[in-house]
This record gives sequence, structure tokens and C-alpha cells, in this order.
Amino acid sequence: MNAFSGFYKKNIQERIEILKKERGISDDEAKVLLDSGALDLDTANRMIENVVGINHLPLGIVPGFVINGKEYVVPMCIEEPSVVAGAAKAAKLAAKCGGFTADADEPVMTGQVQLVGISDDALEKFNFNKEEIAVKAKELASGMEMYGGGYKECEAHILDTSRGKMLIAIFYVDVRDAMGANTINTLLEGIAPLLEEKIGGKVRLRILTNLATKRKARAKCVWKKEVVGEDAIEKMLDGYEFAANDIYRCCTHNKGIMNGVDAVAVATGNDWRAVEASVHAYAAMDGYKPLNKFYKDENGDLVGEIELPLTVGTVGGAINTSPIAGISLKILDVKGAQELSMVMAAVGLAQNFAALNALSTVGIQKGHMKLHAANLAVAAGAKEDEVKNVVEKMVEKNDYSTEAAKEILEKLRGG
Ligand code: MEV
Repeated sequence: MNAFSGFYKKNIQERIEILKKERGISDDEAKVLLDSGALDLDTANRMIENVVGINHLPLGIVPGFVINGKEYVVPMCIEEPSVVAGAAKAAKLAAKCGGFTADADEPVMTGQVQLVGISDDALEKFNFNKEEIAVKAKELASGMEMYGGGYKECEAHILDTSRGKMLIAIFYVDVRDAMGANTINTLLEGIAPLLEEKIGGKVRLRILTNLATKRKARAKCVWKKEVVGEDAIEKMLDGYEFAANDIYRCCTHNKGIMNGVDAVAVATGNDWRAVEASVHAYAAMDGYKPLNKFYKDENGDLVGEIELPLTVGTVGGAINTSPIAGISLKILDVKGAQELSMVMAAVGLAQNFAALNALSTVGIQKGHMKLHAANLAVAAGAKEDEVKNVVEKMVEKNDYSTEAAKEILEKLRGG
């Protein structure tokens, strides 16, 4: 029997015992999990400015995510009920259909240097000096070479703006398993004086672009009609088509995808604002569109595909300082940034599958309200062994108010 089966029915201690056995979580790491993440104030105070406290988010896991034949246990950090359950359901149905296939580009980050006050031949000057610029860029990114990465190439174009013509020089660096912001920004700041010298004009901004189109991950799954049901597939396709043709729906459709992607980004200590910015700019490149595709193949099965530019890493930054990030990466067991981005793409696709499936059939409120009721029961003072009974009664009464939770609890206790 799969060690993770019925995981959701276990208590937290039992779940951690499973992680110890199955994912090599140590006693110390288990302590960190039980101690709500154990990020201490001193560390927090070194991470950002003006620290006065620490905020926490729940960390849940989804076992049984089969991607390229490997079974992943996916950590998700999120405050919203139903997201983990949705991913788990989609992953389970996907596994019955052979799982997801996924792949990712080399982890190439892109950076831009802006030159203003340029002459008409600025672009020619850039191209004429390209070799020398490339040599300097390679030297500036040489720290990545020992990991198998480093400088890749550069190019430039002219922007005609209301403040005159500007030359934008673009640099590409393979940052391997890092998110890569520091590597690319260091290169950009280092190369700027040479650009001024060779091209003329004045350097202004030197910064990475979060729209990392050279760093995309793709995932695909064919959910079989025998598993999903032909009727459900038709309804889900209607739902998908709604998003593909209506920006108001599309925004929410994509938000659902990002529920999964962001939750993995947060769990693994990644910069989820960078991920959001990149993915949403990508969705808007040719007019705002769904981040994924759903269609029926010749067998009548439901094919889901997704492609996302994902600037994520497995080393550096908050990944090294946040105790939970290290544990999450251990649970996930990925070799590096490319594998992590593949998992994130698959989770995003699964999340949308779950949302479309629920929305086009029973709706999402049923599941949501059950979890909401559990939260209300806890807030009303219900102990672990009382929560289930309070929730059942609330669902029965269809009353999800704080008062109802309190009243039911009192009655259960014989009040
Ligand atoms: C809620 O966080 C996400 C959904 O609204 C996504 C969707 O509508 O597709 C359920």
C-alpha cells in the first residue's frame, strides 16, 4: 500500500512520521515543522528591514504527483482552503492516466541596460563592439561557469520614446539552479561603463527582466474520458472556452493556476512576486490569454497543456535562510531549478483542472464551506476531536456563521 494513502485523514504528527520514513525528514527538521517554521527573529531581522515580527502560512503537501514517471510529494504554502485538496484530486486522476509529462528550457535569465541620449548610429556601435562587450560579460558572469552556467549572448535594439531614442542592451546568462537575480544584476552594473564608453550616451537602468521567456517550463497531461467522464469533459471545455474568450473570466482562470504555482514558490522560498510578474506579462504578450490549453483529442480524452516562464531556484536567497524552504525542497526531491519549474508547471495545470472540474459541475462552495466551517469550529473553541461533529452539523444546517459554530459546540458539550 502507498505510504501516503489516506494522508489527509491523519493527524499532523502522523503525517510528519510518514515524511520521516518516506522523505528522510530528520528529527530536527520534524521539530522545525512542528514549531511553525522556526524562523527566528534574529534571522528575520537580517532578511528585511524594520522587522517587528514573523507571519506564518500553513504548509500542506500533495503526494502522488506523477511527472515524467517520477512520483513527487509537492509542498504547498498557502492560506486558502481547497487549493491543496484540488491539486491532490487532479494529481490523483492524472496518475490514473499515466501522469504528467514535463520539460524545461535551460535556466537562462535575461537582463537589460538602458542607454539614453544616444547618437543615431548607437546600434551599429553596439554591433561593432559586440565581441568586446561579450568578453567582458563572460568575465562578469564567470562565477556561474563552475556550476555549468555562465554568459550566453547579448543583443540590442532601439526604443523610440517620448523622451527620445534609447538603446536597450540585453544580456542572457545561464544561472543554473539559482533564481539568478543577483548574478544578472551584477553583470549589468559591471558592463554599464563599457557600454557608455563604446556606444556613447548615458546609462540609466540596469536590471533583469522578470519576463523570462528564455526560461520556460511546460507540462502536459491527457486525462482519460473513462477517468474524468465524458460529460464532465464537455462541461470543463465549455468553462475553458469561457476563459479563452472573456478577459474577466480569464483573469480568475489564471489566478487559479497561480494558486498552485505560487504555493510551491512560497514553500520552496522562491520570489513569488517575480513568478507572478513573469507569468502575467507572458499571459498578456498577445492580448491577455489563459496560461494553459484544454482540448479533446481524437479519443475524446481531455488534453491539458501549460507553458510558463518560471524564474525559480533551488539555491541562494531566502532558500538558504528559511528553514521551511530547505525542508520543502527535501520533501519535493528535485535535482535543481529546471526540475522544480517542471513540477510547478504541472501543479499549475492540475490546479486549473481541479477548478474547472469543480466549477463546471458541483461548484466550489461545497468544499470551501466545509473547510470554512472547520475554521469556524476551531475559532469557536472546538477541540480536535470535536471539529468533525461541529462541521457535520453546520453542513446539515447549511449555516456557516460563527454563532452557529458556537451554538452547535455548546449543544454537543451538553450545554
Ligand atoms: C480561487 O482561488 C480560484 C478559482 O476562482 C479559480 C477559477 O475560477 O478557475 C476557483
